[in-house]
Amino acid sequence: MSEHHTIQLGVNVDHIATLRQARGTTYPDPMQAADIARKAGADGITVHLREDRRHIQDHDVYSIRGNVNLPMNFEMAATKEMLKIAQTVKPYECCIVPEKREELTTEGGLNVADYMFELGDFVGALQEHSIKVSLFIDPAEAQISASKELGVDIVELHTGTYADCNEDQRDSELQRIKSGAQLAHSLGLQVNAGHGLHYQNVSKIAEIPELVCLNIGHSIVARAAMTGFYEAVFAMKQIMIGARLESEGEGT
Ligand code: PXP
Repeated sequence: MSEHHTIQLGVNVDHIATLRQARGTTYPDPMQAADIARKAGADGITVHLREDRRHIQDHDVYSIRGNVNLPMNFEMAATKEMLKIAQTVKPYECCIVPEKREELTTEGGLNVADYMFELGDFVGALQEHSIKVSLFIDPAEAQISASKELGVDIVELHTGTYADCNEDQRDSELQRIKSGAQLAHSLGLQVNAGHGLHYQNVSKIAEIPELVCLNIGHSIVARAAMTGFYEAVFAMKQIMIGARLESEGEGT
């Protein structure tokens, strides 16, 4: 996901895995979804391997890394286990995210300013393996300055508050993201954004000129389920009718 003039889309395929894990089946396959995303113009694929493995599994990370010809953004908590996996997978980029609210987090983003020391070791260990490091932070000045101080390549600004706020807070939340993007860009950081973006709220964020890449998952998977539903029902009914006709034919 390199610097570009047009805005880039990183497609998060976590919730394809959520659907699979709900039944313990082999389908739907996040790797297949990632390849469809590539064909549709995605610029990168994001996966979040959570400590509890609630959606993406280790094998998904390896199969997408090995088979889908797009840069991978590997989201991970700052744990020893994840560091080891990242160093083996060697994704294009690792985005460090908080997983537990009580841990390293402020308003949903990483609390970089208060955990400089712990995160510093982490960032260094990834960069030694030629992996770009991104920090998922609130668009707050203290977090952006601390990220710069840590020497990361990228910050991803948390758009969740903007996505969830009511109408009267929307302008001020948007302004916070705009100011954050300007500050981070002026410090020489690549600026990405994501979380909670959907078809109705993405435009104002996409207009922000400093943003390089938006990482979006849930709304895309949700829309795919609806836009594909007609075809899916139709195909099932055709198979059923075909099977019945064939069995009736055999009987005569
Ligand atoms: N960016 C980060 C850092 C995330 O953790 C997530 C959610 O996993 C996303 C973007 C995508 O969010 P959504 O699924 O709401 O589009």
